[in-house]
Amino acid sequence: MNKISIIGAGMTGSTAAHWLAEKEIADIVLVDVVEGMPQGKALDLQEALPIIGKDVELTGSNDYAATKNSDVVIITAGIARKPGMSRDDLLKTNAGIVGTAALETLKHSPDAIFIVLTNPLDTMAYLALKKTGLPRERVLGQAGILDSARMRAFVAMETGVSVENIQCYVLGGHGDEMVPLTKHSNVAGIPLRDYLPADRLAAIVERTRKGGAEVINLLKTGSAYYAPGLACAQMADAILRDKHLIVPCAAMMQGEYGLDDMYFGVPVQIGRAGMERIVEYKLDEEERAMFDKSAAAVKETHEAMKSLVQI
Ligand code: NAI
Ligand code: 2OP
Repeated sequence: MNKISIIGAGMTGSTAAHWLAEKEIADIVLVDVVEGMPQGKALDLQEALPIIGKDVELTGSNDYAATKNSDVVIITAGIARKPGMSRDDLLKTNAGIVGTAALETLKHSPDAIFIVLTNPLDTMAYLALKKTGLPRERVLGQAGILDSARMRAFVAMETGVSVENIQCYVLGGHGDEMVPLTKHSNVAGIPLRDYLPADRLAAIVERTRKGGAEVINLLKTGSAYYAPGLACAQMADAILRDKHLIVPCAAMMQGEYGLDDMYFGVPVQIGRAGMERIVEYKLDEEERAMFDKSAAAVKETHEAMKSLVQI
């Protein structure tokens, strides 16, 4: 059986475990600093599985040794946003947590593929790569699947068309400058730009950009977890089942889209080796301008992180 370890058994970590257990693709380990909590959640989930007839083993632990020989490691450890906080407000605390989580898990699972979720996402993925020294193929960040799913949901609400007919691609950094593409996103093959009136489309783009904050403002005590947890599960599934799936992920740029030495959300083909390739869309002038603005914001957060943490 494959093995997935999830570091951080809070809302997103335990929800990712839930979605993954349903997929029955791997045994799952939950690790957290809070004593008893990962053990309790793992046991509860284990006790749920007879009801749906799924045979995977769930383990909760406060010790990284439990993650030994993982095929995939998902890092969700850290603090989450509360109302009024930006993702970048989390930088200082989460940089220390993510750096340690990446190094500790790598010690026990030298061949694992890493998926980072902790915010500020692009910078935490960059930090994990730099700390571990792994090749970029093995360290990906999750943001684009979530942001694109939000946009798909909003387009479905607007049009009344099945989500199965709606493909959306949100690229760029996981921040307020993210880039919801309106030409490449489509309803049954028709570009959104042609399908929707300009004002409705602009409202969807804006709601997508603020999608995380919309949920936070409703929840008040934390941020989204169902959709983020499932987005991580889709990435782990694509890796373990060697799907060659193209989805928006944060990846280390080495010249693609004219960007270098930074993590950024782009379409990535993923399979058993992690990132197989980055797909380059032809961007028009409007998209390119949004891309550059988003890249500048991510670079700024990378630089802020570098001034706080030794990498
Ligand atoms: P949460 O607070 O529910 O869970 C975080 C968990 O990390 C807690 O259980 C905490 O005890 C644990 N933790 C803290 N320090 C740790 C350490 N050193 N080792 C192991 N575990 C540790 O937060 P939630 O909602 O799960 O969010 C987690 C992170 O993911 C946040 O930074 C949040 O902003 C981010 N996020 C990112 C998304 C994305 O699309 N990239 C979407 C949703 C959340
Ligand atoms: C989200 O977009 C907070 O990054 C998190 O829901």
